[in-house]
Amino acid sequence: MSFMKATLITGASGGIGEAFARRLAVENHNLVLVARSENKLHDLCDELMVKHKITAHYIAVDLIDFEADLRLFEETEKHKLEIDWLINNAGFGSMGDFANLELENELEMINLNVLALVALTHRYLQKMRERQSGTIINVASTASFQPVPFMATYAATKAFVKSFSEAIAEENRLFNITVTALCPGPTETNFFDAANIGTNVKDAFLKKGMQTPEAVVEAALSAVKRGKSSVVSGWTNYMTARLGNFVPNSLITRAVGGVLRPKFEEKKQIGNAGGERKDKG
Ligand SMILES: NC(=O)c1ccc[n+]([C@@H]2O[C@H](COP(=O)([O-])OP(=O)(O)OC[C@H]3O[C@@H](n4cnc5c(N)ncnc54)[C@H](OP(=O)(O)O)[C@@H]3O)[C@@H](O)[C@H]2O)c1
Repeated sequence: MSFMKATLITGASGGIGEAFARRLAVENHNLVLVARSENKLHDLCDELMVKHKITAHYIAVDLIDFEADLRLFEETEKHKLEIDWLINNAGFGSMGDFANLELENELEMINLNVLALVALTHRYLQKMRERQSGTIINVASTASFQPVPFMATYAATKAFVKSFSEAIAEENRLFNITVTALCPGPTETNFFDAANIGTNVKDAFLKKGMQTPEAVVEAALSAVKRGKSSVVSGWTNYMTARLGNFVPNSLITRAVGGVLRPKFEEKKQIGNAGGERKDKG
C-alpha cells in the first residue's frame, strides 16, 4: 500500500483549527485532525468526508502528555499517511498577575504551545526534507511582537513560535518547504473562555472587533501561497503589531500594564471581600 498525502492539524476540534480543516477539505486535502475532544473530531471527520469526498482521520490525544508527538507520528506512519502539510495550531493562554497564576497551568501552556509544536515540527520535517516538499503553519499571535504584562507566559510562548518558525523557514527554503508563522489578533473562538479571561477583558476585545477564524485561515493560506515566513492576519492587527518597530518595549509594557493592572487589582479586592483585610484601609 502506498502512502497517501494528508494535512495534519492540531487543535482541530474548534476555533481556528476547525476553520483550517473545513477550508482545506474544500481544496481536497485529506486530513488528520488532532485534539482531546474525541466526539467533536469524530463528527467533523464524518461531515467532511461525506461533503468533500476526502479521507479524514482523527487522533484524540492530549498533546501535553509525555511523548504524545511520538504517538502521533507513529500513528500516521502506521496508517501510511504522508504528512505534507503540518498545522501546529493547538494552544491556549492565561491572563493575570504571573505571581498569582497557577504554576502548573503556566508550565502546561509552555508544554503545548512550545514543546509539542517543536517536537511535531522536528518529526515531520525529516520526511519533508527527504521528499523536498512540505508546508508548515505554526500558529503564533500578535502577542508575539512584544512582551505583554498580565499575559507574560502566553506572549513569551508565541514570541518563541514566531522566532523559531522564521528561523527554520530560512533553513528549509532551499528544500522547497514553506514554514509560516501565523499571527492572529483577537479572534472569535473559545480561546478567551479556555484561558479563563474574564468577561470584562473579553468584552473590551469584542468592542474593538474580533476577526472570524475563517478570515484568519484565509490570511494564512494567502501567505503560504506567497511563501511568507510570517503573516499577521487583519490590517488593524498588522498596524498594531508593527508599532513595536517604532516604540520601545518599555513604553509598550508600561501602557499595557497600565490598562490591565486595575482589572486584576479589582479582582483581588472582590476575592478578599468576605475575608479578613490585612491592609489598613
Ligand atoms: N482566538 C484568539 O484570539 C487567538 C489570537 C491569537 C492566537 N491564537 C492562537 O490560535 C490557536 C488556536 O486557538 P483558538 O483561538 O482556535 O482557540 P480554541 O477555540 O480554544 O481552540 C484551541 C484548540 O486547541 C485544542 N487543544 C487545547 N489543549 C490541547 C491539548 N492539551 N492537546 C491537544 N489539543 C488541545 C482544543 O481542543 P480540545 O479542547 O478538544 O483538546 C482546540 O481544538 C492557539 O494556538 C492560540 O494561541 C488565538
